[in-house]
Formats: sequence, C-alpha cells, structure tokens
Amino acid sequence: MKSILVTGGAGFIGSHLCKRLLNEGNKVICLDNYFTGSKKLVQDLLSCPNFRLEEHDVTHPYQKRFDIDEIYNLACPASPIHYQFDPIQTFRTSVLGAINMLDLACCCNAKILQASTSEVYGDPVVHPQTETYLGNVNTIGIRSCYDEGKRASETLFMDYHRQKKLRIKIIRIFNTYGPNMTVHDGRVVSNFIVQALKNEDITVYGTGTQTRSFQYVDDLVEGMIRMMSTEDDFTGPVNIGNPEEFTMIELAQQIIRLTGSQSKIVFRPLPSDDPRQRKPDISLAQKKLDGWKPTVSLEEGLKRTIQYFQNL
Ligand SMILES: NC(=O)c1ccc[n+]([C@@H]2O[C@H](COP(=O)([O-])OP(=O)(O)OC[C@H]3O[C@@H](n4cnc5c(N)ncnc54)[C@H](O)[C@@H]3O)[C@@H](O)[C@H]2O)c1
Repeated sequence: MKSILVTGGAGFIGSHLCKRLLNEGNKVICLDNYFTGSKKLVQDLLSCPNFRLEEHDVTHPYQKRFDIDEIYNLACPASPIHYQFDPIQTFRTSVLGAINMLDLACCCNAKILQASTSEVYGDPVVHPQTETYLGNVNTIGIRSCYDEGKRASETLFMDYHRQKKLRIKIIRIFNTYGPNMTVHDGRVVSNFIVQALKNEDITVYGTGTQTRSFQYVDDLVEGMIRMMSTEDDFTGPVNIGNPEEFTMIELAQQIIRLTGSQSKIVFRPLPSDDPRQRKPDISLAQKKLDGWKPTVSLEEGLKRTIQYFQNL
C-alpha cells in the first residue's frame, strides 16, 4: 500500500484524484486550506480508514509525521475569479507551495507531481501547443499571478530534480470540467450549465469564436496516475488535455440542447489577456503514458456534469 499526499485534495480535481487513489488501495492524505475546495467534496471519503484530511496551507512548511511515497501538488486556485481575488496569495501558493512540497519530497524521498497548466503557454502563437513551445505570457497582466506562478513552480521542480536528484513529474493540464466544480466557480463550463439550468442568458465573452479544448476529469485523473508511474528519469512536462476544439458558441449551443434550456446567448467584452485559442498536442502523452488519450466525449462529459448540477 502506497502512502500518497494530495495537496488541494478537497478541490474539484483533487477530490476525484483522492477517490481514485483510495479505490486503488492506497493510503491518501489530503491537505487543503479550503480556499476554493470544501470538506463536502470529500465527505464520502471520510469514513474510509485509509483517508486522512488535514487543514493546511501549503505556503507554510508541512512537518513530516509519517512516510510518504508520492505527492500530487494540486493546491492552487484555478479559476480566474478565484486566483485574481488575492493575486499575491496565488503567487505565494504556487511558489512557496512548490518549495514546501519539494522539500517535503526530499525529506521523504518521495516522488512528486506538479499540476501545471496550459496557461504557461499564455496567448499561444503556435497551434496546437507542444511541450517544446516556450509560450507567450504577459508578465504584468491580471492573469500573470497564476501563469507566472505556475511557470516558476515548473522551474523549481526542474531545479530540485537537477540539483537534488529528486524524482519529479510535471503535467500541463488543459481545461478540465466535470462533477464537483462549484456553482460559483466562474469557469466556462460550469457557468454555462448553471445559467442554462436557470434559463438565464448565457454570457459569452468576446465574439465567442475563441476556441478551447475541454477534458473530462476522469481522463485527466487517468493521465495523472499514468504520469506518476513513468520511469524515474522521465520528468515531463507533458500536456494532458483533450485536443478536440470547440468555440464558446458551440459549447453554449451544446449545453442549451442537452439541458433543454430556454436560455439565449448574449455577448460581453472579452477580459484582458484572455487567450484566443488553446489546443494540446498530446503526442508525448500518448507515447509516454501507454497510449493515454481522452475517452469521454464532450457530449457524454457534459451530460454527467449537468446531472451533477441538477442534483445539487
Ligand atoms: N481545472 C482545470 O481546468 C485546470 C487546468 C489547469 C491546471 N489546473 C490545476 O489543477 C489544480 C487543481 O485545480 P482545480 O480545478 O481542482 O481547482 P480548485 O480551485 O477546485 O482546487 C484547488 C484546491 O487547492 C486548495 N488550495 C488553494 N490554495 C491553497 C493553499 N495555499 N494551501 C492549501 N490548499 C490550497 C483549494 O482550497 C482547492 O481545494 C490546480 O493547481 C490548478 O492550477 C486545473
């Protein structure tokens, strides 16, 4: 049985990861400060003897009290409304959180995986984005606290690997959605679903022709676990996302259809620094992660997510 620490484990992705790791027979320690996550998302895991939930802010060092084999570092608000709420704390979480977890990994001789993001590519001028593309990121914009924080954390992971021979893994996650997103999360899939279920106007920013690729959370979790089990000398970064592209208008129309909603699409000004297009090249993931590829279609994933929001 492995002992696995998940930071940000009470958040959207973390809650799915904790559940999957427990189902595979591991001991899971979930650290979270509940900034955007909540105990409710891991409520059904609390009765499991192999699950331990601790309130902890990763900007502070975590004292090792037991052996840890693997660390998944997910702690960080991911939605723009949340990471822009306190940009300094967002940057501290990315950078100090990474340092504290890397130091902990050194102390336990644990393997550690960083949940990085497609935001490290900024507003990309290369399409689709491969891991070798160095990105086009504004260092001083309102999204920079998140984008640059994540870039800095990738740097730290690589430096700990080179300097301290730590076994590290970096994945770059592209837009992911699914059950356990919160109603007020502010990300596009949950926004549109919540608006559609209330028959409210669906707000599309800009012309709605900007594209995104949407990955269902189970596909991501599968990719994360496969990445953690790759050979020690493979660090990544590896893109984990769904390469199928949709415009915001197509997404809105699909959600209106699946919910049977009366909502109308309305347009609002594009927020600053909003990337125009995003699409992962997943060749490296396919090669290194045993042929990993997304298996849940947008329609199927949306149906499951809509059902979750209907039952709230
Ligand atoms: N969902 C996506 O589309 C996406 C895309 C790219 C990267 N990611 C990354 O995946 C990770 C998880 O994202 P998510 O979508 O589940 O977001 P989320 O906001 O639901 O989860 C983040 C979790 O981290 C916790 N947290 C925040 N700051 C903390 C701190 N200082 N100490 C301890 N816990 C803290 C929050 O309370 C929450 O439980 C994040 O690192 C995010 O950057 C997500």
